[in-house]
Amino acid sequence: MYPLRRNRRLRTNESIRSLVRETIISPKDFLVPLFVVEGKGIKQEIPSMPNYFRFSLDLLEHEVKELWKLGLKSVLLFVKVPDNLKDNKGTEALNPNGLMQRAIKTVKNVCPDMLVMTDVALDPYSSFGHDGIISDGKIINDETVDVLAEMSLSHAQAGADFVAPSDMMDGRILAIREALEDDGFIDTGIMSYSAKYASAFYGPFRDALDSAPADVKDIPKDKKSYQMDFANRFEAIKETEMDIDEGADIVMVKPGLCYLDIVREIKNEVDVPVAVYQVSGEYAMLKAAAEKGWLDHDAVMLEQITAIKRAGADVIASYFAKDVVKLLF
Ligand code: PBG
Repeated sequence: MYPLRRNRRLRTNESIRSLVRETIISPKDFLVPLFVVEGKGIKQEIPSMPNYFRFSLDLLEHEVKELWKLGLKSVLLFVKVPDNLKDNKGTEALNPNGLMQRAIKTVKNVCPDMLVMTDVALDPYSSFGHDGIISDGKIINDETVDVLAEMSLSHAQAGADFVAPSDMMDGRILAIREALEDDGFIDTGIMSYSAKYASAFYGPFRDALDSAPADVKDIPKDKKSYQMDFANRFEAIKETEMDIDEGADIVMVKPGLCYLDIVREIKNEVDVPVAVYQVSGEYAMLKAAAEKGWLDHDAVMLEQITAIKRAGADVIASYFAKDVVKLLF
């Protein structure tokens, strides 16, 4: 009771504030998304993601070494696939010498202890820009799941530590778990994008990989038939619990900031680590506002990352990872 309790005592100066601070950000919190392209000597800035780049394999080596020196020990790989290799079934995804498979080996080669996670979904490989196979204008579930399981196996064979299915097909976690077990990859983990919403915040990412749903007659222009309706909360719990039952080691909520209510709810509900993906549109918004001088970039970045962790994130996938670590450590 006031004045016995004056809450401001604990806010008097930075020393006392830091002593009682509840949420501390560390390099260990981060999973760093990396975009990989074919070629040599390429470090290409993504126009809608200022200061974020696509790397060819040779320059990916430098980037990975730098991340390791900064204390960033986990990466999440995405590949930009040349148009001539795209088809409806994502055939190239299974190429043992494909860009993803070579990227995994490249990272493991320069930095054996770097934890390598890989995106598993058909969209970068699909001529229609969808996460699954299309038949009669629909994204067909079970045939897609078969490909995703093979794709996961191929990533494991190339040396991935974790596969990260981001496609939102039903039943894919079980199919992937069984495929990995059957082939002896008992220690290869699964980080499931379990509560992934059909969000307009993925725009810049689709620019980065040239993977937006194609504007083709009779093909859906959005991903609403597989990614979740952003109006829903109970559904996120259901999706997450099912993925855990099917064998997910880590679950994820995506996007981040607009979905922190879901993060907290899932964190309270489950007993596996919860990852949050602060997505490309969230990154782009802050970069744009900072460029205009309307927001203090570093202050807002730290506030956002701290809010994500405070909400319950055990793992944060973020394009700001390097910026945060350089600022704080
Ligand atoms: C692909 C995938 C997407 C993202 C991660 N994996 C795009 C999508 O679902 O359309 C988005 C990441 C971001 O926006 O940063 N399935």
